[in-house]
Parts: sequence; C-alpha cells; structure tokens
Amino acid sequence: MKPLKIAVSKGRVKDQLIALLKEAGFEFEDLKSRKLEHVDTTGRISLISVKADDVTTYVERAAADLGVLGSDILYERSFDGYELRYLPIGKCRMCVAGFRGFNLSERSFVRIATKYPKRAKDLLEEKGINGEILFLSGSVELAPIVNLADCILDIVETGKTLEENDLVVLETIGQISSVLIANRISFKLMNDRMMALLNDLDAAEKRSAAK
Ligand code: PRP
Repeated sequence: MKPLKIAVSKGRVKDQLIALLKEAGFEFEDLKSRKLEHVDTTGRISLISVKADDVTTYVERAAADLGVLGSDILYERSFDGYELRYLPIGKCRMCVAGFRGFNLSERSFVRIATKYPKRAKDLLEEKGINGEILFLSGSVELAPIVNLADCILDIVETGKTLEENDLVVLETIGQISSVLIANRISFKLMNDRMMALLNDLDAAEKRSAAK
C-alpha cells in the first residue's frame, strides 16, 4: 500500500510536525539529509517538503493527499479541498506592527506592507480605513523603516524581529496555527487511514498537553 503523502512547508513547521508525528508513533530517518521526501519507518506516511505557498497546489492536484500549512497562508487562498483540523504547531499571532505611537484607527488613509494582501484588505474594510496595500514577499519589517509603508501586517512568533528593528505590535488581529488539509478524492478513497491518523494525532496532542 502506498503511504499517505503529506505536503508540509519547509522549516520551523516541518520540524514541529515531525516532533508531533513522533509523539503519534511515526519515526523518520535521514532527516538531516537534503532529501525532499521522507517515508516513515513503517511506510504509512510520507512527508514531502514544499514551500508554504505551494502546499494547497500540491493537495488540490492530488500530488499530496494531505497538507500542513499555516492558517495565515490558507486564509489567502481559495482552497478547493477539506480543512480537517487545526494542529498544535506553528503557533503565532497575526499583528499590525509599526513604530511606537502609530495609531491605525486614527488614520483615514494608510499604507500597509504585508505578505497577506487578502487579510490586509479585509482588515482595512473592517476598520473602514482607506489604504494602499503593498505586497512584499519577505523582510516586511523593513517597509516602515525605509518609509515604504506606514505600518505592516505580519505574523509575530517570538517578537524578536520587531524588537531588533525598533518596531512594536500595535494590534493583534488573530491567532495563527498550522492546519491539516486534505484532497477531496483522497479523503474519500483513504478515509480509514486518514481517520486513523487523526486519532493518532488527537492522542499525541493529549499526551503532549499532559506533559
Ligand atoms: C516571519 C515573519 C516575521 C518573523 C517573525 O518571517 O514574517 O518576519 O518570521 O518571527 P519572530 O516574531 O520570531 O521574530 P520569516 O522568518 O518567515 O522570513 P521572511 O521575512 O523571509 O518572510
């Protein structure tokens, strides 16, 4: 039987997912190599490492049966598939940040730099503020510093990047965590195996919380 294929974003989330899967009884070898696919020692699941922005594409096209990506990125997509559950990994906050003293609500027009244009558009609409959304693909914290934008909308995990660039959180918009998504057809064809994996993850999460 072919393993259940899970597309996961490279980096921090992948490391946390491997730790969660270990708690759920899955072991992977050769993790230090630059291989992009890792099958667990029992052959039940396989992890493929992709860019966070590409996870939904792999899952929609059935190149992966399941995917793990941040709820921040999923919000930006019109994903055609199932959102199975939130995972206790990849936790951070979506925040408006900028120079201390900047007040978004006092502004009638704002330039906001972000990797999350849909979230930024919705935020401005919710607040009734006119604005210009500047899409950047990284190092967003630079934008207020070089006067490219008045503030940023970005994820904050430890807060270190903001602190080291003399910026502060002005407003927390919401909590972010990783989400497990599934291809529609795979969900039907491999339902028993997916449900077994969900049960294993539930048990692992309970064990981790009790530690
Ligand atoms: C993310 C985010 C912030 C940083 C926050 O960037 O966009 O820049 O992490 O983390 P912290 O609160 O722990 O400092 P990422 O590391 O993904 O790099 P990027 O700037 O290339 O998007």
